Amino acid sequence: MLEKRILTGHRPTGPRHIGHLVGTLETWAKLQDTHECFFLVADLHILTTDYAHPECIQDNICNMLADWLAAGIDPQRATIVLQSAIPEHAQLSLLLGMLVTVARLERVPTYKEQVKELSLQPSLGLLTYPVLQAADILVYKASTVPVGEDQLPHIELAREIARRFNQTFGQVFPEPEALLSQAARLPGIDNRTMHTSYGNAIYLRDTSKETTRKVMSMYTDPTRIHPNDPGHVEGNPVFIYHDVFNPNPEEVKEFKVRYRAGKIGDVEIKKHLAKVLNTYLAPLRERRAKFITQPKMLMEILHTGTERARLIAQQTIEEVQARMGLQSHISTGNDSVDPTAGAFC
Ligand code: TRP
Repeated sequence: MLEKRILTGHRPTGPRHIGHLVGTLETWAKLQDTHECFFLVADLHILTTDYAHPECIQDNICNMLADWLAAGIDPQRATIVLQSAIPEHAQLSLLLGMLVTVARLERVPTYKEQVKELSLQPSLGLLTYPVLQAADILVYKASTVPVGEDQLPHIELAREIARRFNQTFGQVFPEPEALLSQAARLPGIDNRTMHTSYGNAIYLRDTSKETTRKVMSMYTDPTRIHPNDPGHVEGNPVFIYHDVFNPNPEEVKEFKVRYRAGKIGDVEIKKHLAKVLNTYLAPLRERRAKFITQPKMLMEILHTGTERARLIAQQTIEEVQARMGLQSHISTGNDSVDPTAGAFC
């Protein structure tokens, strides 16, 4: 019997990069051994910042799914869910929205950051982003949510909402707990955060040639001008990558000693890195190439998972509606509702 239920997800922003791989996907793949896993394709969340490119969404979903499967997400064991295909996510978000103040949502750090970056006025959808995320989690009564650090404020809000609901209407939801990723955070090849929109990511779908080119252009130690200058290893992306991808820790140790002593050049270190990274990614890429040519199969997997998830979501909504004094099905029988006997509030 599997342990607790997990729900987590990604917004389908397109192909996954190696930061997603070591930060989340490898963890998700392992969790399938011990937990009942739901992995959400959060396509509604995409619209909170970018609703004007409907032509990209389906393509991005296919690319993300191919990467998920290549990284070891197993549809035989996990349930892969398309958020927009289950109206109960939006419905629960509306109902839970009643329990949260606008002021509380305006204090969410991710919202504040995005408002600062946006040139436009923030939409209502952006403000309620974390309420929809809480609904994603609570609609399956998930108890554990593996996420990166940036998502912690959202999980905290989901916990608050669950608590408030339970206090007001009786125990329905577990208070979901965040499971913080333990993996090293990979910087992009320019040493900023690895991000699709920065053009600094190495993608699972990149060829080995592209990967090598990116590795060879990587940022290293800016204080080192000549190969025989002593170099810095700490915070140097080339060594952060070696630590993660090189299967031979002795070799990495030796590289570090030589680098610090100015006895090995950046080019040599990078060549080695390109080799180990390509070896690490090769089996994954092979699987990905197969999946991406079978969009029909990808959609079948999504369909099956979504159908399975919908049954649970429907049950939760019925329960929530009843607790909140609403009807899921209008009863026309005289026995169940007697308007003259009710309490008028
Ligand atoms: N907000 C998450 C992100 O950007 C994606 C997401 C949507 C999610 N719903 C979720 C994550 C529910 C965990 C649980 O990464």
